[in-house]
Amino acid sequence: MAAKKTESAPGSAPESAAEPNPKIIQRVKELRQKIRLHNRLYYQQDNPEIPDSEYDKLFRELQALEQQYPALYSSSSPTVRVGSQPLDAFHKVKHAQRMLSLQNVFTEKELEAFDKRLCKALEVDSVEYVAEPKLDGLAVSLRYEQGILVQAATRGDGSTGEDITENVRTIRSVPLKLSGDFPEILEVRGEVFMPRSGFARMNEELRKADKKTYANPRNSAAGSLRQLDSRITAARPLDIYCYALGLCSDGFDLPAHHYDRLQWIKTLGFPVNDLIEVLTGVKACERYYQNIGKLRDGLDYDIDGVVYKVNSIAHQQELGFVSRAPRWATAHKFPAQEQLTVIEDIDFQVGRTGALTPVARLKPVEVAGVIVSNATLHNMDEIERKDIRIGDTVIIRRAGDVIPEVVSAVVSERPKSAKKVQLPARCPVCDSAVERNESEAVARCTGGFACGAQRKEAMKHFASRKAMDIDGLGDKLCEQLLDAELIRDPSDLYDLSAAEVADLERMGQKSADNLIAGLEASKKTSLARFLYALGIREVGEATAASLAAHFGDIEPLKQATLEALINISDIGPIMAGHIHAYFQRPENLDLVQRLIEAGVHWETAAPTVTSDALNGQVFVITGTLSNMSRDEAKAALQALGAKVTGSVSKKTDYLVAGEKSGSKLSKAESLGVKILDDEAFKALLAKYA
Ligand code: IVH
Repeated sequence: MAAKKTESAPGSAPESAAEPNPKIIQRVKELRQKIRLHNRLYYQQDNPEIPDSEYDKLFRELQALEQQYPALYSSSSPTVRVGSQPLDAFHKVKHAQRMLSLQNVFTEKELEAFDKRLCKALEVDSVEYVAEPKLDGLAVSLRYEQGILVQAATRGDGSTGEDITENVRTIRSVPLKLSGDFPEILEVRGEVFMPRSGFARMNEELRKADKKTYANPRNSAAGSLRQLDSRITAARPLDIYCYALGLCSDGFDLPAHHYDRLQWIKTLGFPVNDLIEVLTGVKACERYYQNIGKLRDGLDYDIDGVVYKVNSIAHQQELGFVSRAPRWATAHKFPAQEQLTVIEDIDFQVGRTGALTPVARLKPVEVAGVIVSNATLHNMDEIERKDIRIGDTVIIRRAGDVIPEVVSAVVSERPKSAKKVQLPARCPVCDSAVERNESEAVARCTGGFACGAQRKEAMKHFASRKAMDIDGLGDKLCEQLLDAELIRDPSDLYDLSAAEVADLERMGQKSADNLIAGLEASKKTSLARFLYALGIREVGEATAASLAAHFGDIEPLKQATLEALINISDIGPIMAGHIHAYFQRPENLDLVQRLIEAGVHWETAAPTVTSDALNGQVFVITGTLSNMSRDEAKAALQALGAKVTGSVSKKTDYLVAGEKSGSKLSKAESLGVKILDDEAFKALLAKYA
């Protein structure tokens, strides 16, 4: 909630403190209740009811009253979220109940052995498990007395941790005061983590301020929790998921199953991960592991495996512990995404827009099942900030389909011979001058289309699936056609004959015919795809779709002034500058002309010029749409004045649900949100086109 940044730290109390009258006491109580309610709606249910400005008003009124009447201070007031005066050191805390660790399994075979042991010990055929994502953050124990958070501690060595109460109080999803029915004393354990989105934003801010960035969300969460000044922690985007109970006072009837305990703590106000499931038998666990593995890259938090826990507490007690870990649970780890290796050299690769990307040539190393021998270093600033040198031992990270990257250097391992890299003055491919704009981190080859590397990348981009989608023209063939000088720019593609293509190495008549057919089919396209295919700097799919919706055809876009471009929503001045510059250059206009003359065409549309037909209506898009990407659909809706958000809530007016819609569809159904399938969505767009 952006506006919540305006919260300021509580000031010191005035010297002669006034006594609060009953009306004031009542008002403070009311404000605290309201703010708690809105915190819950915002942070736990993603469903805010009041605007940020309204929330701020309530918050500031409460802060002012608490400052005026120090007698009303309460450690569970929502105002403590902003942090307080720095501590000198963290105090030690002895855990009332040890914080355990987990045994690990890495393979299905090990998992099956684990399950077999449990079946045998419990004398059952199959065990009921609770399967949970294993969050990659820091374990904390939260202690509540009479429903008020009184202490938060790190795990430490399991018996003794550190008191980080002040810091944990600033985490907005940690309840300061419990709701519902709870025991006098309750300890809840969970994992504090930094969401990936928050981590990226925070690192970006640190980078802008020329400060040291964090290597990953886990380190960043750890660094943020270990601040002696909780006001710093308060500014960090931390979050928590709770997954276990610690001490609970006698006489309180706890549910007899782990899963039900999690559901119960949820009602008290603790966030519990929504991917947790009850499963029976080891095969179901394996399926869960595979599924979560597939979801892993799309989650907004890091996980390093899944955890299986025996659901029945009676069974847990029967199984007991081995040294520091319970026998009734195990972590099933994913292959590590980070490994150590050595940088043997650093080269520069030239991209489609001429950007020079430093690439580390590595001593090959297996990361998450794949041998990695190259990793990106992004740009020169990044190399300097991370102080990475040739010869360094470095951490390599490969997550999902993302290109492997160098996370950091292990400075203690640096050999004397380690060498810093210099930005080359000339392009390593075409020898044109390399230029580095003051305001940009990126250095570029000035060769443009004359640079072989830029030409190759531009051609691959033109042919790619989201651009002209030319069937039969993959990256390799693009390179071959250029190397054989059969083409120089995209318009030459449409002059190719099957005979000359068939002559190329590893090509035959059939693949040549396929290419020619693919080229022919690609001529019928959309303006959005065509604009995207041109590879104008900064113009991605979504921008191309906005431009297409706005102008309807290419002529008005070619004529558009810089001001007109800036005025289009979603297009900032830098992007507008690139678009405008592109259509000023004769060689680009010439290319567009030749492509049109070769037969590339699209259906023109009346320019929408940002209509307000759907003004203020809130849309969510999910699943796969039949003939447009989600970005295109988003741009089309925005062009009609609609707001497009990422998650379904009571505020959502429409859910556009394509093929394979999942949880968003069920949530929308349960909230009674109007649902548009592919056809209905097309009809809606057509109505306003
Ligand atoms: S349960 C009695 N559940 O993993 C078992 N731990 O390797 C106590 N962790 O220290 C832990 N996600 O920091 C549990 N869903 C989850 C977890 C989880 C992450 C961490 C936790 C613990 C470590 C053990």
